[in-house]
Amino acid sequence: MNIVLKVQRYNPGSDDEPYFQSFTVAVDPNQRLLDALMQVKRFQDGSLGFRKSCAHGVCGSDAMRINGKDGLACKTLIKEVARADGDTVTVEPLRHLPVQRDLIVDQGDFFKKYRSVKPFLINAEPVLEKERRQSQEERLRFDDTTNCILCASCYSACPVLAHNSDFLGPAAISQAYRFLADTRDRGFEARLAVLNHPNGVWPCQNHFKCTQSCPRSILITKRINQTKRIIEKRSQKAADP
Ligand code: SF4
Ligand code: FES
Repeated sequence: MNIVLKVQRYNPGSDDEPYFQSFTVAVDPNQRLLDALMQVKRFQDGSLGFRKSCAHGVCGSDAMRINGKDGLACKTLIKEVARADGDTVTVEPLRHLPVQRDLIVDQGDFFKKYRSVKPFLINAEPVLEKERRQSQEERLRFDDTTNCILCASCYSACPVLAHNSDFLGPAAISQAYRFLADTRDRGFEARLAVLNHPNGVWPCQNHFKCTQSCPRSILITKRINQTKRIIEKRSQKAADP
């Protein structure tokens, strides 16, 4: 079948405004959208800019907006976004991050916010046995969050970030939860100032758009709400006489 790939183009060095360019591509419905983009790059226009690396949903580099929804081009089959011969598939860069060129965005703010929650195990206590032990049940409490590939699909899907660019964002909060919920971690206080801030966890209004966009099926909204509850519970405990 043929599809029309309608791609947002923009080179800040030479274009005044973003614009759309359409390419007709011959594809198999079982191919991935990334294959169609690569066909364009190889045989029609080598200047088309997009990121990709693993092509198997692992590296998180090819997140983009596909027909208005955020996701990975390498995990999106043509048949999922185009039903009939000649259908148009619209591809745009992620939202809420500045475009560097075409589908390539500057992820600087996204990673700055991620780093601000100290996404690593904090525990200065001596290790008693050979390792810090944890039961399977304790590990399961945050299991899904360990699958994050930092693709920023959720960041783009978040309606709160559309009007508050300082909001910490879904990925950073769910990664903070990943360690707050870990029985081996002692970093609650170290992360509190960033999380318990007007732009920390509180602006989230449970739109669930992040959860719907996540290619790793992470229960992001639930994890954000659990993070809020951890903060409230521990703050209450500290205030109790
Ligand atoms: S939580 Fe999901 S959508 Fe967000 S960065 Fe991680 S893998 Fe991507
Ligand atoms: S290219 Fe690595 S996740 Fe798609």
